Amino acid sequence: MKALSLTAFMQEYKQLVEIELQTLVEKLDAPPIIKEAMEYSLSAGGKRIRPLLLFATLDAFGADPKKGVQAAAAIEMIHTYSLIHDDLPSMDDDDLRRGKPTNHKVFGEAVAILAGDALLTFSFEVIGKIPDQFAGSETKLQLIIELAKAAGSEGMVGGQVADMEGEGKSLSLEELEYIHKHKTGKLLTYSVVAGALLGGANHLQMENLTKFAQHLGLAFQIQDDILDLEGNEELLGKPVGSDTENQKSTYPQLLTMEGAKNALRAQLTLSKQYLEKTGLNTQILDQIADLIASRDH
Ligand code: IPE
Ligand code: IPE
Ligand code: MG
Ligand code: MG
Ligand code: MG
Repeated sequence: MKALSLTAFMQEYKQLVEIELQTLVEKLDAPPIIKEAMEYSLSAGGKRIRPLLLFATLDAFGADPKKGVQAAAAIEMIHTYSLIHDDLPSMDDDDLRRGKPTNHKVFGEAVAILAGDALLTFSFEVIGKIPDQFAGSETKLQLIIELAKAAGSEGMVGGQVADMEGEGKSLSLEELEYIHKHKTGKLLTYSVVAGALLGGANHLQMENLTKFAQHLGLAFQIQDDILDLEGNEELLGKPVGSDTENQKSTYPQLLTMEGAKNALRAQLTLSKQYLEKTGLNTQILDQIADLIASRDH
């Protein structure tokens, strides 16, 4: 098989997961309003970084990335649910997401909460139904357990709670690191772990890939903090200045902008050291890591 360029890889697999998401929601036997609200946020755009990390991890094992399409869709559903809830008035209270009015602005808070709930729940069904030729029962069980951990109170939800509790307080760097590693890092790490499970990683490869993704996840959120100050609202598709308005602790706020940029570079370097240790064919993963650290949206 001829290796795809990064652009071609991203285009092909972004489209693959987007079609999968649309098909999955279309088929649901549910009240039209909830399907519409789910579909609204899923199709609003988004970089699909987590699915791409999963596909690129499969590629690193020389496996066909397509066998990750259901798991990739499930991750994007959980991520999208987390964004819908993150934007609610009781949380970050933001009006713009992925370049469109936030879910609650269009459908009202009740439907937005339920659309998030529906996406979260559906994601587990989607993983449970991965065709047997892509993953056996044991792998599916592991995929489900790891996803539950990454998304729940020990993972993303835990980070979101700490993020909320930290509003208006001056946190230590250690406390802020906990927030970032959980609210963003856990699901991002899961994307790589899921690819590694589907790709048949051995223990050592799993360990190094996990470390790679943990450092990359932290780098990702440091850049998110930076873009909240330096980004362009139109490009980002979400408001700038939201963190300041909500009195959040962020990397630039704690370390200065220059310090935050140094921390970001340090995390990227660390992540790549672990990636190299895997001994896998990691060109695409490597390039996606660079993209994450230098992204403008
Ligand atoms: C935004 O994630 C929320 C964070 C975890 C920082 P992304 O920057 O991946 O958002 P989309 O999916 O591209 O909209
Ligand atoms: C949110 O972090 C992370 C999750 C949605 C879990 P942020 O609140 O910084 O994300 P943005 O900046 O609104 O995308
Ligand atoms: Mg938030
Ligand atoms: Mg937010
Ligand atoms: Mg942010």
